[in-house]
Amino acid sequence: MIPEDLRRGNFGSKVGFILAAAGSAIGLGNIWRFPYTAGESGGGAFVLVYLLWVVLLGVPVLLAELAIGRASQRNPVGAFRALAPGSWWPAVGGLGVLTGFGILAFYSVVAGWTLGYLAKSISGGIRELGTPEASRAAFGQLIGDPLSALFLTFLFLLLTVLVVRGGVQGGIERASKFLMPLFFLLLVVLAVRAVTLPGASEGLRFLFHFEWEKITPRVAMTALGQALFSLSLGMGAMITYGSYLPRSENLPFSGASVAFFDTLIALLAGLIIFPAVFATGGKPDAGPGLVFVVMPTVFDKLPLGVLFAVAFYALLAIAALTSTISLLEVIVAYLVDERGWDRSRASFSVGGACFVVAVPSALSQGGAAWLSEGGLFGLDFLTLQSILFGNYALSIGALLICLFVGWRWGTAPAVEEMRRGAGELRTAALWSFLVRYFCPLAVAAVLAFIVVTRQYF
Ligand code: TRP
Repeated sequence: MIPEDLRRGNFGSKVGFILAAAGSAIGLGNIWRFPYTAGESGGGAFVLVYLLWVVLLGVPVLLAELAIGRASQRNPVGAFRALAPGSWWPAVGGLGVLTGFGILAFYSVVAGWTLGYLAKSISGGIRELGTPEASRAAFGQLIGDPLSALFLTFLFLLLTVLVVRGGVQGGIERASKFLMPLFFLLLVVLAVRAVTLPGASEGLRFLFHFEWEKITPRVAMTALGQALFSLSLGMGAMITYGSYLPRSENLPFSGASVAFFDTLIALLAGLIIFPAVFATGGKPDAGPGLVFVVMPTVFDKLPLGVLFAVAFYALLAIAALTSTISLLEVIVAYLVDERGWDRSRASFSVGGACFVVAVPSALSQGGAAWLSEGGLFGLDFLTLQSILFGNYALSIGALLICLFVGWRWGTAPAVEEMRRGAGELRTAALWSFLVRYFCPLAVAAVLAFIVVTRQYF
């Protein structure tokens, strides 16, 4: 057994941990990716399957990752090495580190867009984007301009690097203790406004009405990827955060709380975007620009709209920052712990390399034609990268993590780890069943369907 060695930093309190893990989970995945993938996948059917994945697979895998992390007290690669010495399992951690890099490279592009819109709000320029046409044109101008897209991506990566290098996550997390509840309130206000727009009911129908025949392998795959992405699962981010979680804390309760709030915020985003899309005569399948084009038309319909806009983009940028921090932290923790790199060197090198890899995604919304919509596999490059890393790599990662906990490490030691600080767990048998059988079989079945039907994208 690994001794309770507290050489690692620990979260001082349960609230501290929940905030950090929720900070990782809540981000652009909820506000940007959930609405746009739901919009492309037909709405209600996607939302239903998404919710099923969150409950049946997201929560069990989240607890599995936290248990691996807390039991091993290590980064993803070291965690597998500690729990399964001399095996090839650490490669699963390695896949996670690579996946994190791939996600960070497109995530920071979109996070850069929030900075661009924040600037536009502060300058008051957002006021001119009240109509869908004006808003679409402005998106093209701001994001489609290669220089500003690259600059904003660079700026966001730099912010992330500076935080991770300085190890000042604590400060950010303390700040988000009141900033994220504020974000939540703001989203509620925006949702109320959107839902009461004339013509909004069609958006509600789109979001919640489903037909069984719309549940295709493609929809199941996209929803699976989105559930993992939104909860920061499948690449070891939660293994890393679990390694900072004190043994005295109630792991299952913390994990379930994180999943609950993450899902609530995604649904709130849907309650803003779709009513507003239909009320303004837009299309729900507009792609990665959807949220950015729709939001200004909502601010336009609010008193003090500019103020709401500034608050929204500032809080969204902070939510995105607490997510990019968790992505970079996994890679840096690996380089520092396993390769003996200096923290500062690791942060800057990974950030720099990530910027290079981010270039094609940054240029994908209006730059070179082969990177734009209809380019590779009929997709823009950013969406392609989001699908490859966000859907496929995370699904394979989650599958392997379930196989590891279910069949190699064993659900018994995992449950023992979860009981520390939690006492008796009445749901332990159900959790074990889900991790051993349901989750790996369900993910494998969806992947197999995709391969057979060749509906890869
Ligand atoms: N979950 C975050 C979001 O919804 C993104 C994210 C952060 C993430 N860390 C991750 C996704 C690790 C997958 C894996 O915005």
